[in-house]
Amino acid sequence: MTTKQRQLIPDDVHTNGATPNPWWSNAVVYQIYPRSFQDSDNDGFGDLKGIASRLEYLAQLGIDAIWLSPVYRSPQDDNGYDISDYRDIDPMFGTLDDMDMLLSEAHAFGIKIIMDLVVNHTSDEHAWFQASRDRNSEYADWYWWRPARKGCEPGTPGAEPNRWGGTFGGSAWQYDPQRGEYYLHTFSKKQPDLNWENPSVRHAVYDMMNWWLDRGVDGFRMDVITLISKRIDEQGKLPGEDGGAIADEEAGEEGYSSPWPFSMDGPRLDEYLQEMRREVFAGRKGYLTVGEGQGISPQRNEYITDPEHEELDMLFLFDHVGVDQNGAKWNTEQLELPKLKAAMAEQQEAVKHNGWASLYFNNHDQPRALSRWGDTSTPEMRVKSAKALALMLHMHKGTPYVYQGEEIGMTNAGFTKLEQYRDLESINAYHQRVDEARVQDGASMMDSLARVSRDNSRTPMQWDDSTYAGFTSENSSNTPWLAVNKNKDTINAADQRDRPDSVFSFYKELIDLRHGNVVVAAGDFAALDVQDEHIYAFTRSIGDQRLLVVVNASSQAASLPEQTAALLADADDASRVLIANEDHQNILRQVARRKLEAWSALVYEI
Ligand code: GLC
Repeated sequence: MTTKQRQLIPDDVHTNGATPNPWWSNAVVYQIYPRSFQDSDNDGFGDLKGIASRLEYLAQLGIDAIWLSPVYRSPQDDNGYDISDYRDIDPMFGTLDDMDMLLSEAHAFGIKIIMDLVVNHTSDEHAWFQASRDRNSEYADWYWWRPARKGCEPGTPGAEPNRWGGTFGGSAWQYDPQRGEYYLHTFSKKQPDLNWENPSVRHAVYDMMNWWLDRGVDGFRMDVITLISKRIDEQGKLPGEDGGAIADEEAGEEGYSSPWPFSMDGPRLDEYLQEMRREVFAGRKGYLTVGEGQGISPQRNEYITDPEHEELDMLFLFDHVGVDQNGAKWNTEQLELPKLKAAMAEQQEAVKHNGWASLYFNNHDQPRALSRWGDTSTPEMRVKSAKALALMLHMHKGTPYVYQGEEIGMTNAGFTKLEQYRDLESINAYHQRVDEARVQDGASMMDSLARVSRDNSRTPMQWDDSTYAGFTSENSSNTPWLAVNKNKDTINAADQRDRPDSVFSFYKELIDLRHGNVVVAAGDFAALDVQDEHIYAFTRSIGDQRLLVVVNASSQAASLPEQTAALLADADDASRVLIANEDHQNILRQVARRKLEAWSALVYEI
């Protein structure tokens, strides 16, 4: 067993503003999407025992913590993001005993476990919601119930309280005949939103969080946590009433308007997060809290993550993964590099003094960054651009998150038929856009799905080149729940683990660098040549220790722009190349010619 030895950042180095420096300030977190990671009982779904069997692999990679996407009991409408019992494990994934076992085995490897916490909503099958359907129950006010639009027959088309659309299609309001009212669901109709204004709701959530921390988990990734404080009643009223509903013309192309502007970063968010901190985390040490940060600007991120404000350790911001979407996910365009640089730089600048950044390009909701922004046209470019994107991300200041399979350069799913998809967002969006609202034709929507569907990152982990890529047994009578990517023969962990030039080995090197080099972990960030369309460059520094990060993020040779070229003017010492995705002498020859080849990337000590 390889138990890791990691030096914590000394306290004379400033990280997020806390003293002592938190354990996560030079840590790397690995996200596991349990149903796609490793199946141990041949039912075609990954499980907790499967994860336990791969801890040794994660220890080799060198990560410090696992973020586990939800494994709680769930009807699985949204793959576990719809929880029906917060204090149990879904049978698909195993039992509470398996979870205890995984915790103790991970801890023995020096790996912490962060659980996903989904408390903006529950499943409609949760006991709280079932009780809430009775107006006389003590749970009556635990969800957002509203009457039908004035003058309309409840439950008839158009009688919804307003025109809000659910994120996964249809109206955001679902009529419940038993209660005779509508409940709000920001996501699918099987995910009713909890009413956080009710203190009983909040305390039930805090109790549950304490229960898990007492059991040994090391923190939480908080799902859509910035949606918990809402301004429903400005918009929850009927058209024509005072402060009334959204006018028809505000509806988008699919016929609905969005509830998000009325729930992202609502007026009581800070208050709730501070209360949670007091009720759950006060007196505890060694945990990590990371919130999903929809609607959070870099400046608000600084506020929420400043340790003085006692809210969250870090947040996942969205501006940088939206730079090619212009607010319209299904119309994702070609990336313009200066936009990505600007978004990242703004996030980095905002946490210059206090607060902290999380660093990610991939997760279970995003397409694979390698397919999206890299170059998969040839095997060489695929490997080289995977390393270049990794170097680019990991050299920023913050806590990097590696999403399963990213470390071996997995790519988008390559699906061509709607039947291959399992994600409810993708399937519902297809029907809503193509069949109902008719804003996109079938062929172009299939193209959109192939580029941005969430299933692109959810295909089974590619462990080896066997039929099901080692995710589930070849002799299994059950096929994997989502098809294995056809490229498992060339892209798999078995091939890469011990090969020094693999994507896996490169990630390992990046992780080691963060553990061992305080400038990589905590150095100040300064952007360079922000308008250049090919070269992504910046410096990181502490005192007179300075690192220059240079990536040609394009598929053509590119000249070094002015500021970068000036800093590299006499760069000819291979021993100062901290890391590169090519032979160090070779990359310095490119630097000497003031031109980097496609996807060349290096870090130079200046
Ligand atoms: C978050 C999750 C996503 C889920 C949604 C609803 O965005 O990351 O997977 O569908 O919340 O819980």
